[in-house]
Amino acid sequence: MIATHSAPPFEPRPARDLRDEVLRALHERHSIPLKVAYLGEGSQIWNAVASDPDYDLGQRELATLRAFLPEAGRELRDGPWNIVHLGSGNGIEAPFVVEALGPSAISRYVIVDISASLLSLARAHLKKGHPHLRVSPRVEDLDVANLARLAADVKRGGAPRTLFLLVANGALAAESRLLERLPPVLGRDDRLLFTVELFEEGREEEILRSYRLPSMARLFRRQLRQVAIAAVPDDALHFYIDRERHLVRIDLLRRAPLHYLWPLGSVEPTPSPIHLFRSFRPTRQHFPELFLRTGLRIVTAVLPSATRCGAALCAPRA
Ligand SMILES: C[S@@+](CC[C@H](N)C(=O)[O-])C[C@H]1O[C@@H](n2cnc3c(N)ncnc32)[C@H](O)[C@@H]1O
Repeated sequence: MIATHSAPPFEPRPARDLRDEVLRALHERHSIPLKVAYLGEGSQIWNAVASDPDYDLGQRELATLRAFLPEAGRELRDGPWNIVHLGSGNGIEAPFVVEALGPSAISRYVIVDISASLLSLARAHLKKGHPHLRVSPRVEDLDVANLARLAADVKRGGAPRTLFLLVANGALAAESRLLERLPPVLGRDDRLLFTVELFEEGREEEILRSYRLPSMARLFRRQLRQVAIAAVPDDALHFYIDRERHLVRIDLLRRAPLHYLWPLGSVEPTPSPIHLFRSFRPTRQHFPELFLRTGLRIVTAVLPSATRCGAALCAPRA
């Protein structure tokens, strides 16, 4: 039986528009946006996942990025660059990017995330190794952000070229549709660096294991608590791979009458299942397609079998 109780308020965009957006998502798409999990104390929950030694997905994506950066760096010699790191989280990968390009080739390093506290960690991370680097944190909800304005703001007072990073963030790419929404705002000389775990036949359980970790379960429970759904039994979470759409998906299955509450009051019956998570998992064959169908061309890419992940540097198609 799943119990409900009143939820803590959202921050820093608790505002009615976020509440309305989540309500609409529940009613129209039967989903709760994962982003609500990262707000407030959720940032500590994510930080615990990122530093969990059993979270090998994070380590493999980071290893893929590190293996790819020397090659990507050669393609990015025509600096200086603005970097726009989307969904930077605690910025674990940011120092590797700075070292690969060289701090003097970076005009400004913009970190964008929905969580102000994760941005503080990412900023500290960057400043520790590179105190003179110009780091600009920007709290944005990338589901609704005006990407054209973001891209223009960054160039104003910065360099004429921007490298966008969407690394270790297959969920943000899928849920915020950034791989579709970003290409139209890229200038001719801008680039996108993307990493993702690849789907492999027979490795389904291995792929899902990272999401079944207790540290990760706390993130999904937090997401549910944001709409006052608490005491969710483990077997109510359904982890699976949607082969047709190349996604890892997590749903909450309703086993008992379930209502959600809002901090301000209303109680509504929920649909079932409720979609909690979607994250890209292309096969090796589909990896290039992910970019081609959105108007990008691959400048260079690696698909190391050891890490079972892929990385690509992309440019807009002329
Ligand atoms: C899976 S974490 C990845 C973070 C980082 N790459 C890492 O490995 O630590 C996802 C990040 O995206 C951020 N995020 C999720 N949805 C977002 C949204 N709609 N807008 C902005 N940031 C978002 C979260 O706050 C979190 O920091």
